[in-house]
Amino acid sequence: MSASTLPHRALGGLAVPPLALGSWNTWDRMDPDDAVAMIRRAVELDAGFFDVAYYNMGPHAENSRTDILFGEALRASGVERSRIVLCGKLWLWDWPNQSFRGQLVESLERAGLDRFDTLVVGDYLDEPDAARIVTDVNALIAEGLVGGWGINNWRIEHTRAALDAAADAGLVGPSFAQLKYGIARRAMAEGVAYGSLFAEGTLALQASDVFEGGILATGRMPQRKIGADVGGIREHILALYPEVARIAEGFGVTPATLGVAFCLAHPATANVLVGVSRIAQLEENHAALALVADRGAEVREALRGLRVDHGVRDDGAW
Ligand SMILES: NC(=O)c1ccc[n+]([C@@H]2O[C@H](COP(=O)([O-])OP(=O)(O)OC[C@H]3O[C@@H](n4cnc5c(N)ncnc54)[C@H](OP(=O)(O)O)[C@@H]3O)[C@@H](O)[C@H]2O)c1
Repeated sequence: MSASTLPHRALGGLAVPPLALGSWNTWDRMDPDDAVAMIRRAVELDAGFFDVAYYNMGPHAENSRTDILFGEALRASGVERSRIVLCGKLWLWDWPNQSFRGQLVESLERAGLDRFDTLVVGDYLDEPDAARIVTDVNALIAEGLVGGWGINNWRIEHTRAALDAAADAGLVGPSFAQLKYGIARRAMAEGVAYGSLFAEGTLALQASDVFEGGILATGRMPQRKIGADVGGIREHILALYPEVARIAEGFGVTPATLGVAFCLAHPATANVLVGVSRIAQLEENHAALALVADRGAEVREALRGLRVDHGVRDDGAW
């Protein structure tokens, strides 16, 4: 299979590959040799963007080793650092008690890395101090530990507060929003609240949870923990699968290929972050690049009526 068929889009100051691979419940479900092969194949297929998080606190107090295993596989792969983009994660659950610097240094050490190209500041329960987040992240940028940053499912007023605080202080603000986005769930990525920030290019979109943890790729509810079900709509999403499969068949692709293509065809999308546990899945997801290049508008039109999250707010409040 040949490599990229789409130009790289901007995410902050970076030109990023159209596909990104998540680390949550992925590297720790692969054999070490398979993880090495996955990294090499990802780079070949223009999916050399790796989201590397330490799942250790709040709702993610899972003591996962997935980040450590990724780091080991990356070193064993021999892939040059300059050929990939690495994205870290900071959690707000116990911040500022657990400082950003402490979190990031620990995360880098666990994965055996010296720097993230960018990072995502996670979601939260209590209202965050956006100005302080900007200051603390910029200290990491000044130290050379990371190049830029984005936000994860933040309420729009907090995202705007961070952008304003950064502009006022002459600091680096968030450059992308990692949001839940897929065929069935479109509220935040396509809604009015974030819409103008995407349209004017202030933020790029990183689509995530695109299969709802795998449901829209397989038609099955995974047994492992998957992303939060904002709006309580998972049963509706599961029920949508046969129709997604029918439309995919019409395009001569799998539901997974169709789901990734749907997200890539949104003009704000910089890249699509998916979890994969087998190379065959990566290759299927990569087939979306050709589908978008050839028939992106048709894909969007065929899936126009399939969203089921009309009751979910577009501003991130829930
Ligand atoms: N912003 C948010 O709210 C949010 C929420 C959740 C996750 N995330 C981020 O997004 C990343 C990806 O999320 P995720 O892995 O939880 O969910 P996902 O990308 O929606 O689903 C991943 C799972 O779908 C299945 N899959 C993938 N490609 C497939 C294919 N071609 N054919 C059949 N099945 C396929 C695999 O399941 P099996 O491995 O079981 O085969 C895979 O583990 C995470 O690592 C995390 O960083 C963000």
